[in-house]
Amino acid sequence: MLAELQSLSDQAQTEISAAGDAAALEAVRVKYFGRQGSLAQMGEGMKAVSKEERPAVGKKLNEVRQNLTALLEDRAGQFTAERESAALSGVDLSLPGTFAVPTGGLHPLTQLLDRTVQIFRRMGFALADGPDIDDEWHCFDALNTPADHPARNEQDTFYLPDGRLLRTHTSTVQIRTMETQPPPVRIIAPGAAYRRDEVDATHLAQFNQLEGLYVDANVSLADLKGTLEFFFRELFGSGTAVRFRPHFFPFTEPSFEIDVKSVAIKNGAWIEVAGCGMVDPAVFEAVGTRRKDAAYDPETVTGFAFGFGLDRLAMILTGLPDVRMLVENDVRLLAQFH
Ligand code: PHE
Repeated sequence: MLAELQSLSDQAQTEISAAGDAAALEAVRVKYFGRQGSLAQMGEGMKAVSKEERPAVGKKLNEVRQNLTALLEDRAGQFTAERESAALSGVDLSLPGTFAVPTGGLHPLTQLLDRTVQIFRRMGFALADGPDIDDEWHCFDALNTPADHPARNEQDTFYLPDGRLLRTHTSTVQIRTMETQPPPVRIIAPGAAYRRDEVDATHLAQFNQLEGLYVDANVSLADLKGTLEFFFRELFGSGTAVRFRPHFFPFTEPSFEIDVKSVAIKNGAWIEVAGCGMVDPAVFEAVGTRRKDAAYDPETVTGFAFGFGLDRLAMILTGLPDVRMLVENDVRLLAQFH
């Protein structure tokens, strides 16, 4: 029986290496391992083997089984590898793919902010920051806004239960900056502002502003005009006309609204883009009460401040008709501005 097993094993090995393809190999497998296969018959034959011989024959049978199984798997693996390399022959794996890999891009608001920061940095303005949740003092009182001013109304401002509020403008950062650093101060502060506005094509309840503040000895209205004219010409093109129209803000005196007119702007009309003015002495005095020093004595320092809506500027520059498009994040729209 041992000899029989050995010759069966030799025969099977020859047939496995001779099998020319996967189908032929499968036939060999069935011949030996199938239910009626030679190994099954050998198993049957074990019954006739004497008790003394049985362990040796059983051991040999197991060895043959294991050995042949391994050989069958190897040969099958060779066929798979051959099939795969045949399928790949003629394919140049170093060629670029046929599908473009979609890449992201910066949101138009981010692009505008980057350009804006760049322009002001060239004029020596540093970035400043402040909290979105602030108190009435920083948002209104210190900014010379009277207690009965409509902006303080619960209809216009989001108040928290503890009396704090979501800042209605980034002008809070003027105060926070002066509280913590002495003049000269030359900062811009981009950030979110919040108002209880009905959301429509030109209003969001949360929007983006950029505040500017320049305080030093002898800062004049000419500095204000020169700085902002330069900024808007950089942004809209050198042929841009910039107009300062008298206006009122509680925290600046005199105050202006800025209009621009440019070929870059659709239908070439004057369009309002910013508020600005010379820092009101009352603002310096409010800062002084907190600082408890004379660093911002209105007799020794002057300054200008400005603020504008980044969303509005982005709409003008992109020609988007509806401010909500800036926050919906529809990639089909945004991809046009990459
Ligand atoms: N804070 C004003 C606004 O939100 C803009 C402004 C800033 C005006 C600074 C003058 C000076 O409309």
